[in-house]
Amino acid sequence: MNNESDISWIIKKHETKDISKAKEMFPIETARLARRLHSQIPGYHMTRLAALPNLANMLGVGGIYVKDEGERMELNSFKVMGGSFALFRFFQDRLNLKDEQLSFEYLTSDEIKSKLGTITFASATDGNHGRGIAWASKMLGHKCMIYVHSETSQARIDAIKAYGAIVKVIEGNYDNAVKKCVIDAKANGWEVISDTSWDGYTEVPTRIMQGYTTMLLETQKQFSSQGIEYPTHIFVQAGVGALAAAVIGFYSALCDGVNTPKFIVVEPDQAGCIFASAQADDGQPHNVDGSLSTIMAGLACGEPSPLAWDILKECADVFIEVPDYVAARGMRIMATPLKGDPMIISGESGAVTLGALYQLLTLPGNEELKQYLNINHDSNILFINTEGNTDPKSFRQIIWDGADQVPEKYATKR
Ligand SMILES: Cc1ncc(COP(=O)(O)O)c(C=O)c1O
Repeated sequence: MNNESDISWIIKKHETKDISKAKEMFPIETARLARRLHSQIPGYHMTRLAALPNLANMLGVGGIYVKDEGERMELNSFKVMGGSFALFRFFQDRLNLKDEQLSFEYLTSDEIKSKLGTITFASATDGNHGRGIAWASKMLGHKCMIYVHSETSQARIDAIKAYGAIVKVIEGNYDNAVKKCVIDAKANGWEVISDTSWDGYTEVPTRIMQGYTTMLLETQKQFSSQGIEYPTHIFVQAGVGALAAAVIGFYSALCDGVNTPKFIVVEPDQAGCIFASAQADDGQPHNVDGSLSTIMAGLACGEPSPLAWDILKECADVFIEVPDYVAARGMRIMATPLKGDPMIISGESGAVTLGALYQLLTLPGNEELKQYLNINHDSNILFINTEGNTDPKSFRQIIWDGADQVPEKYATKR
């Protein structure tokens, strides 16, 4: 922990990076298939890659780019891309279809429905994944059971129920909800579509991570239309680490050792299981216990996905933990931009990475990290706003009422 700037970090100095798993898990053909299927979903459009040139200028950075998943279909989060791709693959397996035979129209046809009957999909969630599964199950004509933990806000529960899912509230935290979901699914014959992995359960989480890469193919298209080959740095937030592994694995495979961006993984300091795993430095994933109490609901996970950790331990460069107010500040920076920059509506989990960069560049200390990252006027930094206003009450409390205020010591000086 650096007291001057209130953030903790670990630099993973790789002698060499083993990107073989990243290449195996994120082949470009699979990303293209995911994008083809996603683009057939009614309401699909490419989300914007918002450039914030004035903020970049203020921070002395070449470019700040935010992939705005707050605009992702009607769900306002990237999460739906993973769950829907896992469901597409599930039906492909059941029906023994080749990739070329897969289409959204065919999967939603009466013929398919009568062949398969009604299936119940089940998952635990801290909000967005469950909403995505509920939405995709409804869209494809099936049933859905979603498990949430007792700290989940009513707004998030209602948003899942709105797509016809049955929601069960489980005592404890996210990890308890995962365990209970698996037990009940086994007893009832439901299909578990979990974004986290465990021993013997890796196929679905792999597909979920692959589904996220639609967003990255879009990003690359948007970068290349601006003459940028790859970003120089990518800040990505982590709960169980599946998103971070998808982003870092995809880019590691794509760049294949040439101009690979520096990858920075950001977590809440109350739920830093990826950070704890990096800190232990024994190659194994490590859990953190407790209530995991953080405003970043999507990142409140105490157990890393082992599958994700396998990618992150090889390919991620820096691990950062920050307090809640950093996410709140990130939300305010995005919602009240500098003149000429676009406004971005971001939820707590979506904004923490930009908040972390701001904290790092505007406060003293952290010289070793700054030197290692070498962020300068030639840097093009990518952030993913992973959610929009998914919890409107909390959003208003932060943006309107100034909740989770920046402590005086770390505030902008008058
Ligand atoms: C908005 C948001 N951002 C980021 C994440 C982190 O994803 P992961 O759990 O795969 O690390 C989540 C997870 O639910 C989320 O909802």
